[in-house]
Amino acid sequence: TLKIIAMCVIGYLLGSIPSGVWIGKLMYGKDVRDYGSGNMGTTNTFRVLGKKAGIIVLVMDMFKGTLTALLPMMFGMHVNALLIGLSAIIGHVFPIFAGFKGGKAVATSVGVLLVYNPEFFLIAWVIFLITLYVSSMVSVASMVGFTLITVVSLFYNDPILTIVALALTIFIFLRHWGNIERIKNGTENMVHFGLLYRKKQ
Ligand code: G3P
Repeated sequence: TLKIIAMCVIGYLLGSIPSGVWIGKLMYGKDVRDYGSGNMGTTNTFRVLGKKAGIIVLVMDMFKGTLTALLPMMFGMHVNALLIGLSAIIGHVFPIFAGFKGGKAVATSVGVLLVYNPEFFLIAWVIFLITLYVSSMVSVASMVGFTLITVVSLFYNDPILTIVALALTIFIFLRHWGNIERIKNGTENMVHFGLLYRKKQ
């Protein structure tokens, strides 16, 4: 159990690394939280600082989850990678290094899935990209995407996967409350491609 606690603490600390804030401040002298949606995640980094910064933050935020999910293997322990991965997701959302106000759990969750089940990880990406293309809204792709992968998880006969996917979906909806309000008002930020964006033009 000491090892499990150690893994969760390491995972939490890794997850707490506020990539968007640090990259923004170090490389661009800008705090992404002061612009756009005010979020420190990948989407807002793309929006505020552009492609290069967005990709770096996406990779870093995913990697926090991936590395944490690899900890059981590094520690030579047979605990579920998905469950240890949750500590990084909690860190990402409530980061000790950024006043406990963090991201919306999407990228780090996907990074955890990569270790747990690479096939499922790829399916999640495909679903995400399709919903993003249709809706032109990252928030919608995140919420609908996680809902759909929870449904897909039912085909894997893996209750832990389904329970975690469901819990993450609910959590992701809660983190997107502001986005849901904006979607209802028709003021949600759109990416400049996709079907809905074109229709609105
Ligand atoms: O992953 C976060 C994304 O779904 C929404 O980000 O900045 O548009 O609120 P944002």
